[in-house]
Amino acid sequence: MSDRELRLQPRLQRIADCVPQGTRLADVGTDHGYLPVWLIQNKRISHAIASDINAAPLEHARRTAELYGVDDEQLELRLCAGLEGYAPNEADTIVIAGMGGETIAAILDAVFWLRGGDTVLLLQPMTKVELLRRHITENGFRIISERLVLDKGVIYTVIEAISGTGQKLSGAEAWCGVGLENDPLYGEYVSSRIRKLEDAAAGIRRGKNANLPVAEALESNAAELRIKLREWENADRK
Ligand SMILES: C[S@@+](CC[C@H](N)C(=O)[O-])C[C@H]1O[C@@H](n2cnc3c(N)ncnc32)[C@H](O)[C@@H]1O
Repeated sequence: MSDRELRLQPRLQRIADCVPQGTRLADVGTDHGYLPVWLIQNKRISHAIASDINAAPLEHARRTAELYGVDDEQLELRLCAGLEGYAPNEADTIVIAGMGGETIAAILDAVFWLRGGDTVLLLQPMTKVELLRRHITENGFRIISERLVLDKGVIYTVIEAISGTGQKLSGAEAWCGVGLENDPLYGEYVSSRIRKLEDAAAGIRRGKNANLPVAEALESNAAELRIKLREWENADRK
């Protein structure tokens, strides 16, 4: 093991904090490999598979491992799309982070074996998080918890999900997350989601052939979130 100490940016550190001690980890779309290398270097796990759809990121991950003294028995690098190069039960915890919500949803949809198993998923979408929450809860998964993190002025969520059915999300949950009310960043997160909805609606209204029903639906979502935020703020003050 090298004396060099890897430091993670807040987004990746938040994900790392959610990884169970001693788990068999798969990091899908690893890119630089910082997450699995940090977890191994800090003895949180002893082995991980880090995969990517492109060869160049895997080479980056190989260099990271080398720099921080992680060997190829501890970190196995794998070139594959999503989970297609994995066998069922190779990992107890699967991280899919730093990609768009639609890409993450497509990766989960492409393998049958995740449904019915007990693999823990840690999903950290960069965009379309509302779409991902809805998609997974309507397609064989349950959201167990979420945690927020602020990194370079943006609030990200880390979604923990497992196989399961029957979870019906409200509009507010799809937009603002599940069980986040006690997270210190919750108020700020809901405000940022309201701004996003209102900006999107205003953008549509400014367009030439404005699709008014879509703008109205976004504004109605924003109004619902404003009520939720006010209720949360009042409850918070008691
Ligand atoms: C922005 S990086 C995120 C890296 C890291 N997971 C993080 O959160 O910082 C996205 C990585 O995902 C990889 N990627 C994109 N689509 C993928 C897919 N379908 N399967 C596997 N890797 C994918 C890209 O090649 C890239 O290296």
